[in-house]
Amino acid sequence: MLQLSPLHPTLQKELEEHFAVVAPQDLAAHKDKIAAIFVFVSPGVDEALISSLPSLKVVGNCAVGYNHVDLGACRQAGIRVGYTPNILNDATADIGWTLLLATARRVPEGDAICRHPNTTTFDSTWFGAQVSRTTLGIIGMGRIGLEVAARARGFKMEVLYHNRHRCSPEVEESVGGTYVASLEELLGRSNHVILVAPANPSTYHMMGRRQFAAMKPTATFINISRGSLVDQDALTEALQAGTIAAAGLDVTDPEPLPRDHPLLRLSNVVLMPHVGSATLLTRQEMLRLTIRNITAALQGGDMPCEVTPNITTPKQ
Ligand code: DGY
Repeated sequence: MLQLSPLHPTLQKELEEHFAVVAPQDLAAHKDKIAAIFVFVSPGVDEALISSLPSLKVVGNCAVGYNHVDLGACRQAGIRVGYTPNILNDATADIGWTLLLATARRVPEGDAICRHPNTTTFDSTWFGAQVSRTTLGIIGMGRIGLEVAARARGFKMEVLYHNRHRCSPEVEESVGGTYVASLEELLGRSNHVILVAPANPSTYHMMGRRQFAAMKPTATFINISRGSLVDQDALTEALQAGTIAAAGLDVTDPEPLPRDHPLLRLSNVVLMPHVGSATLLTRQEMLRLTIRNITAALQGGDMPCEVTPNITTPKQ
């Protein structure tokens, strides 16, 4: 197996218990024998790599998002692709809430005040934004969106959601979510907006100038999906101009951002290094599902979670 993305030592051991692992730097000597690729959210698995591996049968994508895998090239070469939906819903919803609270209540700025050598008193006029009893707008009500919504109950929030398809009344009832057909309307009514929609051509830059302009100037914007869904220039301008109050981003485009990117200089932005699923328990479950996916494909059997042309909601 060709292992493209590094793993935590505990997980590395587990992968090596199942497969003979080849690192990218050793690929030349093993090219003809590689039957499987293991990859996390990067690097990309492109046509050039796929066509250079004559024995390749399966890409084990250890993530729910697979926008970094060239599915067309895989399909053409008869390569199957596995992915890891569901088991990361909780951890990813948790990071969404972590970012929402940290961004709205200005945790990194507060932390800096506490540590600053000149701090001798605390400013009683220093505020964050209210979270409890406000309105949360969720863009993308798939599996992760539903977990985000479920957590909002504890914060006594009104939950609005926008999705390609309206959820069933039972699902809406279970999370207390109200469907809003117009994205702009949801943006205008929400105090906090969280983006959880999948990355695909139809969601590329779905948050642009018009959408940020539709948000309240006091609103917080959170992205736990993929950076490609956001026009980052428009987001930067909106944050600089006060069109919106703040943003919390677990994902950007590219990752990491270039060191001189203007978003890195804004105090109203909270950033995390794409860690939605980054807990040992969740990554262990993702790895185990990936191992089962790869093993099944190598044996010619049914993969527990295979990306097929019929899948319509890849990221959630
Ligand atoms: C995924 O699995 O797509 C997540 O973004 C990883 O954290």
